[in-house]
Amino acid sequence: MNTTKRYTITAALPYTNGPIHIGHLAGVYVPADIYARYLRLTGNDVAFICGSDEHGVPITIKAKKEGVSPQDIVDKYHAIIKQSFEDFGITFDNYSRTSAKIHHETASEFFTTLYNKNEFVEETKEQLYDAEVNQFLADRFVIGICPKCGYEESYGDQCENCGTSHNAIDLINPKSAITGNKPTLKQTKHWYLPLNKHEEFLNKWILKDHKKDWKPNVYGQCKSWIDDGLRPRAVTRDLDWGIPVPLPDAEGKVLYVWFDAPIGYISSTKEWAERVGKDWRPYWKDKDTKLVHFIGKDNIVFHCIIFPAMLKAEGSYILPDNVPANEFLNLENNKLSTSKNWAVWLPQYLKDFPDKQDVLRYALTANAPETKDNDFTWKDFQARNNNELVAIFGNFINRVVVLTNKYYNGIVPAPSNFSKIDEETRAAVKAYPAVISSSIERYRFREALGELMNLARLGNKYLADSEPWKVIKEDESRVQTIMYIALQIASALATLSEPFLPITSNKLKKILRFTKNDKNETEFHAEPVEASLWNDIGVKDNLLPAGHQIGRAELLFNKIEDKEIQAQLDKLQASKAANEAADKTAEPQKEEISFNDFTKLDMRVGTILEAEKMPKTKKLLVLKVDTGIDVRTIVSGIAESFKPDEVIGKRVTVLVNLAPRALRGVESEGMILMTETPEGKLVFVNPDDKNITNGLKIS
Ligand code: 2FM
Ligand code: ZN
Repeated sequence: MNTTKRYTITAALPYTNGPIHIGHLAGVYVPADIYARYLRLTGNDVAFICGSDEHGVPITIKAKKEGVSPQDIVDKYHAIIKQSFEDFGITFDNYSRTSAKIHHETASEFFTTLYNKNEFVEETKEQLYDAEVNQFLADRFVIGICPKCGYEESYGDQCENCGTSHNAIDLINPKSAITGNKPTLKQTKHWYLPLNKHEEFLNKWILKDHKKDWKPNVYGQCKSWIDDGLRPRAVTRDLDWGIPVPLPDAEGKVLYVWFDAPIGYISSTKEWAERVGKDWRPYWKDKDTKLVHFIGKDNIVFHCIIFPAMLKAEGSYILPDNVPANEFLNLENNKLSTSKNWAVWLPQYLKDFPDKQDVLRYALTANAPETKDNDFTWKDFQARNNNELVAIFGNFINRVVVLTNKYYNGIVPAPSNFSKIDEETRAAVKAYPAVISSSIERYRFREALGELMNLARLGNKYLADSEPWKVIKEDESRVQTIMYIALQIASALATLSEPFLPITSNKLKKILRFTKNDKNETEFHAEPVEASLWNDIGVKDNLLPAGHQIGRAELLFNKIEDKEIQAQLDKLQASKAANEAADKTAEPQKEEISFNDFTKLDMRVGTILEAEKMPKTKKLLVLKVDTGIDVRTIVSGIAESFKPDEVIGKRVTVLVNLAPRALRGVESEGMILMTETPEGKLVFVNPDDKNITNGLKIS
C-alpha cells in the first residue's frame, strides 16, 4: 500500500466546442477521478487539475458556422462542461480555462523562457494558404489524404483514422476546410521545437525507463513515433484566436493550441494554489511529486513526447511519472461522433436519468476501454444496473439495514463467539483495501471495481450462508454476531465505494450514520470510532462499533425498465436516420445539362385512376393514369412501398414523353416521379412531405 506522497493529477483539458459525452467520461475523467479520490482517501496530498481548452481551430470553425465570436462559443461550453463535471462528481481541485489571464501569462512566459534559451528554431517556410479568405491552412483548416494510412479525410495536424500527428504540408491532395479550395503555397515565419534534439533523452526516458510501468498501448505509440524519427514541430500559427506570440516580430501569430494547452495544467495549478493559499511550485518542480496525466489515446504523442520535451527544455519542471491513456469507447458498435450526433451527451443523460450519475460511472468503469477500444451498449448499461448494482450491492445493503432495524431498532448489536465462517469472512474483508489499492495504483480501474463488487458478493454470500432470518428463531445471540459482521462489511463498502460511486457512498454513509470529520469535510467517520478511512479497514475489527445507531433503509439503486432503454435506442435510431439522409443529400450532382436538354422533358400533373399488382412480381404495380392528355398505362416499381388501394386517387408528377418500354409484357407509357427516404421507403414527390429531406434524389 502506498505511503503519503504529493501527487499532481491532470485530466485532459476538454475543447470548449461542444458538451462532453460518455466517451470523454469513460476515457479520461472517471478514471482520473477514481484515482484522485482514492489518493485523498489514503491520506495523500493531491492536486487534481483540469480546465477548458479554449483555443485552436475547431473553436473558430464552430464560431464561424454559428455566426458568433469564438469567445461566445467558449463561454457557452465552458459553463456547460464545468456543470457536467460537477454533476458527475468529478472532484477537480481546480477547473480553470485557457482564456484566463493567469494562463496567457504562464504560457507566454514559458514560450519566452524557451526562446531565450535558444530552444526554438526560427524558420520561414512555405505553408498551405487559402487566398480567397486570406488564411493560412494549418491543423483543422485543411483536409486531405493521410500520408501514413491513406485516410481521405485526415486533418492537417492529425489523422483521426490512424492517430498519426503530422504537418499540414504533408497531406496528399489537401483542400481548404473553409472554402473547399485547393490551397496555394505562401511563405510564413514560425518557431519550431526541434524534437529531434530531444530524441536521445526521449529514447532513454520512455523506451528504457518506462518500458515496464507505462501501459503497452502508450508505450507502443511512443516507440513507433521515436522509431520513425522525430522532426521539428511548429509551435506557432497564423491565426487570430489564441495567445499572441510574445515576440516583437510576430504580429498575427499565436501559440499553437497544443503548445499552450498542456501549460494550462500548470496555470490551473497556480490558480488553485493562489485560491487556497498554497505554493504551486512543489506540485510541478519537486522531484518527489508524482505527476500523472489522464488522457485519451489521441493525445498520447502530445503528453508523452512534445510536452515532456517542452518541460525538459525549460529545465525546472518534473516530468510525468505515468500517462495512463485509455483507448476509445464506441457506442452501440459505432465510433462516437459529435458531427453525426452519435453520442450520449452528459446534459442529456442527466435529463433522462436524473439520479443515476453513479450508474453511468459504474457502467463506464466496468466496461472501460483500458486496453482496447470497447463498446457501450444501452442493454449492457441496463444489465449492469439491474443485475449488479441493484441485485448485488443494493440488495446486500438493503438486507443488512432492514434486518438491523427489525431486530435491534437500528442499533449495532454486540458480537459474541466468532465461528470459522465469521473469522474467514472478517479476514477476507480486511484484505480488500489492499487488493483494490493495488489495482488502482496500477491504473486497472475495472479490475478494482470488480473487487469492490466481490466484497458486496461476499456480504450476500455470508448472509445467505448464515441465514439470520432462520437462526433468529432459535439462537438470538448468534444472529447478533452475524449482523455485527454484516454491518462491518456494509461499513467497508461505504468507504471503499467512494472513488467509484461517490453519490452512493455518501448515501450509504448517511444511512449508516457516519459522522463528518472536522479536519476534512468530505470524510465521514463512524461514531464513536475515530476514523473509518480506507487503510483502517485492513486493520480494524470494529469499523461500526456495537451500540452505534444506524438510520432507516433507503434504496441505493432502482431497476431500469426496458422502456427507458428503448427510448435511448430510439434516439440513436433517429440520429442514424438523419445521418443517412445527410449522406444522401451529399450524393454528388450529375453532369451539367443545357436548358435545351431540360426542355426536352415533358412532365405533367396526373391522377392515378386504377392500380393493381403485376402478377408474379414483388415490386411492380400496373397503374392507369389520367395525364390530362390521355389515360395511359404506367408500370411503376412501387409495390413494396404501397398497396394498390393506397395510390388510387393520388395526384402525381408524370414524365410523359419517356419512350414506351415493355415490363413483364405490359407496355409502360411514362414514369411517375418518386423519391426514396433514408429508410428506403418510396414516396411521391411532394416537398411538403416531412419524410422528404433536402437533397433526396427524384427519379
Ligand atoms: O483532445 C482534446 O480534447 C484536447 N483539448 C486535449 C488537451 S489536453 C492538454 F494538453 F491540455
Ligand atoms: Zn492516417
